[in-house]
Amino acid sequence: MLLYVKGLNVFYKNIVYLEDINFQVNKGEIFSLVGESGSGKSLTALTLINLLPEYFKAEGIVVFNGTEILNLPSYQLEKIRGRKISIIFQDPTTSLNPLIKVGTQIAEMLIHHLNISKKEALKKTKSILEKLKIPHTINSYPHQLSGGMKQRIMIAMAIACEPELIIADEPTTALDVTVQEEILDLLYYLVKSENKSLILITHDMNIVSEYADRVIVMYAGRIMEEGKVEDVYNNPYHPYTKALLSCIPSAKTEIMGIPGNIPNLKSLPKGCVFNPRCKYKQEICSKEIPTYRKVSDDRYVRCFFT
Ligand SMILES: Nc1ncnc2c1ncn2[C@@H]1O[C@H](COP(=O)(O)OP(=O)(O)OP(=O)(O)O)[C@@H](O)[C@H]1O
Ligand SMILES: [Mg+2]
Repeated sequence: MLLYVKGLNVFYKNIVYLEDINFQVNKGEIFSLVGESGSGKSLTALTLINLLPEYFKAEGIVVFNGTEILNLPSYQLEKIRGRKISIIFQDPTTSLNPLIKVGTQIAEMLIHHLNISKKEALKKTKSILEKLKIPHTINSYPHQLSGGMKQRIMIAMAIACEPELIIADEPTTALDVTVQEEILDLLYYLVKSENKSLILITHDMNIVSEYADRVIVMYAGRIMEEGKVEDVYNNPYHPYTKALLSCIPSAKTEIMGIPGNIPNLKSLPKGCVFNPRCKYKQEICSKEIPTYRKVSDDRYVRCFFT
């Protein structure tokens, strides 16, 4: 097991943003976080590397490779971030410095994290860009590159220090479908060929089914269901997962077909957070909160009726 998350809660004042988050990520696997906009996927990712804005409080356990992350002093976190765990964001423009050539940015990061000479760093940068099949970009400035190219540069930066875990937060949402596939294929190949682990965050169930090994389905800051992708697809337990999957056959794969809206975290419905939108709602669902429970090996659900 590479990453272990247990009983994680994130809150600010009286608002609970993440509640009772539990999962683990194994070595060599692609683990997906899926859910509608605002379900807490990005906050979960930020918590894993202790990068939440300061006003959020996180409690619970996050252990990476034997190291507890949440209470780690910042100088030790620095050794993990980028070096052991790296993160790729949706919008590469916010992560790249527009004034510096991309090759230089990658090299500088290598010098910082690996403490190697400039010459070695440039050599390594070249070989990484070759691996990503974009050696010609080494002397380019970010604005000279397309969105897809920039995202490849972000992947280059994310894998440069050979981290154990890569977190990709909607890495292709801003790109058109063909480029999206190229980028995800590349990421898949890099992760699987080197036995690394990937947390793939998306709201697209097709991406989950194509690339991930296991998945957690999130809703209003809670995990509704967890399982192997194949099992969850063939036999979804939670009504929310069922609703998400029923949206897939439509031409648009985004999660937009579920009637009703994701609840406001400031005034959550009583009982199960999904109950106002649930087709299978019973009396208990608006009265009591379902616990997150193990149903079988590798399979967890937060619903009274499974
Ligand atoms: N920096 C922040 N400060 C205050 N609230 C935030 C912050 N970031 C996220 N939130 C709130 O936390 C909740 C979860 O947001 P989060 O960004 O994790 O959702 P998400 O699942 O990643 O959605 P998306 O698919 O749109 O990226 C939302 O209600 C959001 O408004
Ligand atoms: Mg997000």
